[in-house]
Amino acid sequence: MISPPLLRRLLLTLLLFPLLAGAETNLNSDRAALLALRIAVGRTALQWNETNSPCTWHGVGCLHNRVVFLRLPAVGLFGEIPVGTLGNLTALRSLSLRFNNLSGGLPPDLNGAAQLRNIYLQQNRFSGDIPPVLFSLQKLIRLNLAGNGFTGGISPEFNNLSRLETLYLERNQLSGGIPDLNLPKLEQFNVSYNRLNGSVPSMLWKMPSSAFKGTSLCGGPLPQCPNGISPMTVPEAAGGGGGSKLSGGAISGIVVGSTALIVIVLILFVFLRRGSKARAREAAAMLAKRPEAVLKKPEMGKRLMFLGNVGAPEFDLEDLLRASAEVLGKGTFGTVYKAELEAGTVVVVKRLKDVIMAEEEFREKIEAVGSMNHENIVPLRAYYYSQNEKLLVYDYMPMGSISALLHGKRRSGRTSLNWETRISIALSAARGIGYIHSTSPTASHGNIRSSNIFFNKSHTACVSDNGLAALVNPSSSPILVSGYRAPEFTNFRKISQKADVYSFGVLLLELLTGKSPEEGVNLPQLVQAVLREEWSTDVLDLELLRQQNVEEMVQLLQIAVNCTVKCPDSRPSMPEVVAQIEAISSSSRDAVEVQAQ
Ligand SMILES: *[C@@H]1O[C@H](CO)[C@@H](O)[C@H](O)[C@H]1NC(C)=O
Ligand SMILES: *[C@@H]1O[C@H](CO)[C@@H](O)[C@H](O)[C@H]1NC(C)=O
Ligand SMILES: *[C@@H]1O[C@H](CO)[C@@H](O)[C@H](O)[C@H]1NC(C)=O
Ligand SMILES: *[C@@H]1O[C@H](CO)[C@@H](O)[C@H](O)[C@H]1NC(C)=O
Ligand SMILES: *[C@@H]1O[C@H](CO)[C@@H](O)[C@H](O)[C@H]1NC(C)=O
Ligand SMILES: *[C@@H]1O[C@H](CO)[C@@H](O)[C@H](O)[C@H]1NC(C)=O
Repeated sequence: MISPPLLRRLLLTLLLFPLLAGAETNLNSDRAALLALRIAVGRTALQWNETNSPCTWHGVGCLHNRVVFLRLPAVGLFGEIPVGTLGNLTALRSLSLRFNNLSGGLPPDLNGAAQLRNIYLQQNRFSGDIPPVLFSLQKLIRLNLAGNGFTGGISPEFNNLSRLETLYLERNQLSGGIPDLNLPKLEQFNVSYNRLNGSVPSMLWKMPSSAFKGTSLCGGPLPQCPNGISPMTVPEAAGGGGGSKLSGGAISGIVVGSTALIVIVLILFVFLRRGSKARAREAAAMLAKRPEAVLKKPEMGKRLMFLGNVGAPEFDLEDLLRASAEVLGKGTFGTVYKAELEAGTVVVVKRLKDVIMAEEEFREKIEAVGSMNHENIVPLRAYYYSQNEKLLVYDYMPMGSISALLHGKRRSGRTSLNWETRISIALSAARGIGYIHSTSPTASHGNIRSSNIFFNKSHTACVSDNGLAALVNPSSSPILVSGYRAPEFTNFRKISQKADVYSFGVLLLELLTGKSPEEGVNLPQLVQAVLREEWSTDVLDLELLRQQNVEEMVQLLQIAVNCTVKCPDSRPSMPEVVAQIEAISSSSRDAVEVQAQ
């Protein structure tokens, strides 16, 4: 892992080359395999539009023009999966067909999908022995076969799956004993409610007793085995502290999480206000001084110009100058103040630096930005232009930026941003950016980063600083935070929609890993390094790993990786990204609903 950059690049090239070569024919064979699967088990369930690329189909995800994930939870798939379907998806990494009505076994040619890391087949009607073909999938990390009708024993061949971290076999009809499993990475394990007997092998003694509920096993976390072997019922109380609390814990985690989040934001806010009273006065003075100097020799039209989409003006420049203000921070394009008007309205004032532009051009660009009206964009209310001073007035976002929430100093060890919150931030931000891109083929934001995404009052993420990159003087090029900057970026004339997609991919990585690209971490490189080894959860934020949606997280990770590929043309478009995140987010919800039933 500590290989020099050149070697790293070489490795990456070696890794990607076989995928890129002949990508077209392989995608066609993926497509044929998926269509065969649909005919066999999803005739009515899957509404895939054959005129479009399979990568756009519901539940299908691609990487480098190959199908790498297929997730169709709870869509009503029915019947047996034949050969020539899943086994032909040779680049497949993640398969989720949970909560369907699939039956029989698994196709014996599934070993063709040798890249599989994650298999989720829980809650179907599969039956027969645990399919031996699974033991040939050497890269398997997560396997969930719970809630089916599998019979027979647990094979010692599970030892072939040396990378296995998750093995869920509960609620089947498995019988016999548990073989000596030697799976060093195994962390999540459950064989509850099977007809198992005998003693728990020592390697599994670290598992909670609730992993063996409803069996006749003994030893380890369970009551001692009597001399020889005799069936025993596991007392419910022995499950103390184990997994039966999990779902309750997860729910209270979410509640505590969101309460904690509000409290943290409030504390942060009060703290900030207290800590900077002096600075606030200074800022107020500063804000009041300079525009006032301008006003001493008033020019025609030099007043606060309100933009069309926000209704009648509630204040004017004088109100703004009388307002108490505090410095919120120094952004890429200038200093940002929070101004509290006497009437009680709170706004954010951005004082732009490095804008050398005639008023006419400035007005045109700002009006284009001001006319954008979308629930995921922070509304620009007004602007002020004079020779020496350019101000922008925005709605104030009291909940703060995503950056502050993710990396704020006051963030405690408890989950403050759970998965549901993060996926909703990702989706909202993607929709906001997608909207900007939809206004014209050249429209782009130019400075997507977590400190430019805010929570509004209704807890929806909104994109701010829209269009500012187009205002600055390209030759003065303020330094964009390098962590978010697309490799092809050289100056602000080169901002493009694909560069936004790159920055958005970094934002996704930030949401998933909890690491900040502003601290010199090259997130795409870090993630690529991990992914070269295997699709793994090593990079995910520990706070997230406490939750159960690892599958969705890995899928969001895949989207992030697609967005941050080096070649701009290979990155997806924002509408594609929005659709993919919507699919993950809605099936997260489906799963929660189905599980609740
Ligand atoms: C399939 O997609 C094409 C192109 O996007 C569209 O024109 C067509 O109406 C779609 N067909 C169906 C059945 O939705
Ligand atoms: C799956 O692959 C096999 C072997 O390459 C091929 O014969 C078969 O036609 C493929 N199935 C589909 C549905 O494309
Ligand atoms: C699954 O299939 C069985 C057999 O046809 C049917 O009785 C059952 O209602 C189906 N279940 C669901 C959830 O579709
Ligand atoms: C499991 O591993 C053993 C030893 O490496 C090998 O002989 C066997 O074929 C493997 N099983 C499968 C199903 O690949
Ligand atoms: C487990 O149960 C089976 C079938 O009931 C029985 O034949 C076997 O002896 C039992 N094994 C042990 C170790 O108790
Ligand atoms: C194992 O599965 C059973 C049944 O679904 C559940 O009650 C128990 O909490 C689970 N235990 C663990 C450790 O996952």
